[in-house]
Amino acid sequence: MKAAISVGPDAKSVEPLDRAVVFLGPPGAGKGTQAKELAGKCGVPHLSTGDMLRENIVKGTPLGEKAKPIMARGELVPDSLVLKMVAERIEEPDCWHGFVFDGFPRTVAQAQYLGVLLRQHGYKPPVVVHFAIDPGLLLRRITGRRMCKIAGEIYNIYERPPKVEGRCDNDGGELEQRPDDREEIVAPRLQAYEKQTAPLVAYYRRLGRLHAVDASKSVADVTQQVLEIVCKAR
Ligand code: AP5
Repeated sequence: MKAAISVGPDAKSVEPLDRAVVFLGPPGAGKGTQAKELAGKCGVPHLSTGDMLRENIVKGTPLGEKAKPIMARGELVPDSLVLKMVAERIEEPDCWHGFVFDGFPRTVAQAQYLGVLLRQHGYKPPVVVHFAIDPGLLLRRITGRRMCKIAGEIYNIYERPPKVEGRCDNDGGELEQRPDDREEIVAPRLQAYEKQTAPLVAYYRRLGRLHAVDASKSVADVTQQVLEIVCKAR
């Protein structure tokens, strides 16, 4: 018999999701932090299109070459490039029992394509979690973020500092700041969100797929809200 997700403080692991979960919200709202947590608990992949694009940049692939200057300006990478990357990724066997999208979809065209992809692969409609947050918190979260160079663990020098400055608690990896987390790039990223991504809130609400969490709360509190939504949506 399959075990249900436990949403208590000791919640550990659980049966596969068997569906897609979409985390939607502005830069710095905490999507990546919570996506790692949920994906780990459910034993499914965390699919961050931002991480996938950054990996392509590090490897110097043609996709990475195209995405690099666009991301450096805080703009969205064209749908055509992102959609191909996502379509290929969800074909991989680790996605067969569901996945957690973080930062995808980000335009109405991406959302429409995702709907088609999920139907083609026989998945149920996605559970969409909107990270609603006081915009005044975002600058501090974004500029304070540091990420482990080895496994991508996310810290914040103000809110979630590592035990040893500049080093990951888990593997001792060096912590670095993302180039687009510099203060001067934050405004264009937030503008891109408002113009191109925020309309997805209404889009998914119309489809009856939208659930909101108060992302201004602590990490543990937001995790609890997310787990309750995902459990009820099963
Ligand atoms: P991407 O990497 O997706 O970045 P983003 O959406 O801008 O989101 P962030 O990673 O900035 O924030 P987050 O919500 O994940 O917050 P986090 O958990 O890290 O995209 C980067 C770029 O790639 C885009 O600008 C675009 O160019 C391109 N791109 C990516 N996907 C694309 C797509 N689909 N289409 C087109 N282009 C695409 O938390 C932030 C900080 O806050 C951390 O320091 C964390 O420790 C802290 N924190 C988290 N939760 C809490 C909490 N509850 N309380 C206090 N602190 C917290």
